[in-house]
Amino acid sequence: MQLHQSSWPEIEEYLKSSTGIIIPIGSTEQHGPNGLLGTDAICPEVIARLAGDQSGILVGPTFNVGSAQHHLGFPGTITLRPSTMIAAMSDWAASLMRHGFDRIYWFNGHGGNIAPASAAFSEIYAEFSFGRAGSNQRPVKLFLRNWWELPGVGDLCREIFPVGEGSHATASEVSVTYYAYPQSQKKVEMHPKIAPTGSIRDADDYRRQFPDGRIGSDPSQASPEAGERIVKAAVKALIGDFQAFMKAA
Ligand code: NI
Repeated sequence: MQLHQSSWPEIEEYLKSSTGIIIPIGSTEQHGPNGLLGTDAICPEVIARLAGDQSGILVGPTFNVGSAQHHLGFPGTITLRPSTMIAAMSDWAASLMRHGFDRIYWFNGHGGNIAPASAAFSEIYAEFSFGRAGSNQRPVKLFLRNWWELPGVGDLCREIFPVGEGSHATASEVSVTYYAYPQSQKKVEMHPKIAPTGSIRDADDYRRQFPDGRIGSDPSQASPEAGERIVKAAVKALIGDFQAFMKAA
């Protein structure tokens, strides 16, 4: 079930049987020479959409611009500064909590979102700790799961791409987007075949260290077929993971 394609009476009805929601959260940033700028938003979005269709879990709109300042040396990248992202996530959560949602599962596609999301959770919990959340506000439970860390999914990615999976513009994430949007595939030869690895600072430093945007990966291996295998495994794992989140105290 997709929030964007529902009416308000349908959401009111949903809330009678469940107070949980999945919010895909991603980024709009360069993903190397053959990866889509939307990769980190598309991956959690497509997995969550299929999981919602199969299970009836409500899936909210994708939070599709995240914390990606280090990619700004490449055209097309859009970022929030961490403080803006913390404020925006807090407002998204506060809106949902007003309607009665008290379990918010953020389904993440971008490593750079982990720190600001964790800070946003602390901000939201602080409203309760300081007693400012309102006496009629039920305590909320927040959770962040990276799609590649769903049970079994990382192992499958490494099994399909034993060499050159890498850590940015990975063969797996590019495959997922090629499965979702086969018409957007790009054929590009990579030089070097496997990109260098290293640490990340600001945008200029990033472009100097990783001139074509990749880190440790060879995404020329990406294919829609590999993407389909990963998505199918991730959909199943996401449904189980969300259900466990809903059951936990
Ligand atoms: Ni990515």
